[in-house]
Amino acid sequence: MPKVTIDNVEIEVPEGTTILQAARMIGERDKADRHVVPPAMCYYSSLKTSGGYCRTCIVKVSQGSTKDPRPMPKPVASCRTTVMDGMVVQNTTSPELLDARKGVTEFLLINHPLDCPICDQAGECHLQDLGYEHGAEGSRYEFERRTFDPIDIGDTIKLHMTRCILCYRCVKVAEQLTDGRVHGVINRGDVSEISTYIQQAVENDFSGNMIDVCPVGALTDKTFRFASRVWYTKPVDAHRTCENSKCTGKVVLWLKGNEVLRVTGRKDQWGEVESFICNTCRFDKKDVKHWTVEGPRHLDRHSVISANHYELQQKQKLLTKAAPESTPVGRPKEIGQG
Ligand code: SF4
Ligand code: FES
Repeated sequence: MPKVTIDNVEIEVPEGTTILQAARMIGERDKADRHVVPPAMCYYSSLKTSGGYCRTCIVKVSQGSTKDPRPMPKPVASCRTTVMDGMVVQNTTSPELLDARKGVTEFLLINHPLDCPICDQAGECHLQDLGYEHGAEGSRYEFERRTFDPIDIGDTIKLHMTRCILCYRCVKVAEQLTDGRVHGVINRGDVSEISTYIQQAVENDFSGNMIDVCPVGALTDKTFRFASRVWYTKPVDAHRTCENSKCTGKVVLWLKGNEVLRVTGRKDQWGEVESFICNTCRFDKKDVKHWTVEGPRHLDRHSVISANHYELQQKQKLLTKAAPESTPVGRPKEIGQG
């Protein structure tokens, strides 16, 4: 099995593993090593042929392999490059690589509006995180930005093409999860855009997953738009027995009080949906009584949502409820350590 070293951390991986997957394996092995994992805006492990579009995952290969130790002449997309035995990769330890990633971020933000204060994706937007971690203070772009009017693509999905970074994830969802894809990327170069055939509605049992995989606020849930900032909601894991055999019925309910504001798939530590859910679970089951609530959702991303120690507070509440009045309950810090 080939051995690869990323930011001075070594791992042995199965043949055919990409650099990005190897980095994630290191991150899963030890949380303290997560810095070796490059950001990924278009790769999605459960969608075949995703990756290779956005270039945010670029890394520097300073040694190609034991057999041929020459460095690769330019940064490579880690989601599309397979590891070789003895390969040495730099993600955060190379200043020129970080500079190149800053350039990629600047390109992604050329047309993307900074409308985070009114965007439903704010707080869980991968481009917001990328801009924060790798962006420049300002843009050098002086030309007119391209803009589009938001359009409805079906009853439940709104497309804000102005925010789209053309990562193709929604196209892969449509191709691989739904029957009869009716949307895709039309035109080429700087006039490329996501479009449906003559604004045809995207209506399919699994079309809502396009919203979950969109890394920015280009595809939003019309049933949730402007309902609340996500950080004011309380996400809980819940499940139901879904009649659709392809749907696991395992979701996250985003609650305000007892009101279900939205239903989404469960995302893992890399921001990817663990299992895709059907539109009935997502759009039609907006009442807690439809669901068995399991408990507070563990938010593994360093986003604004987890900034207020939501999970800890929920655990504290549950403990307070369970404990008899005279029994002292531990401080949140102590509970979190348990
Ligand atoms: S709409 Fe979203 S998921 Fe689709 S290509 Fe644009 S950014 Fe990617
Ligand atoms: S995640 Fe690799 S190119 Fe987009």
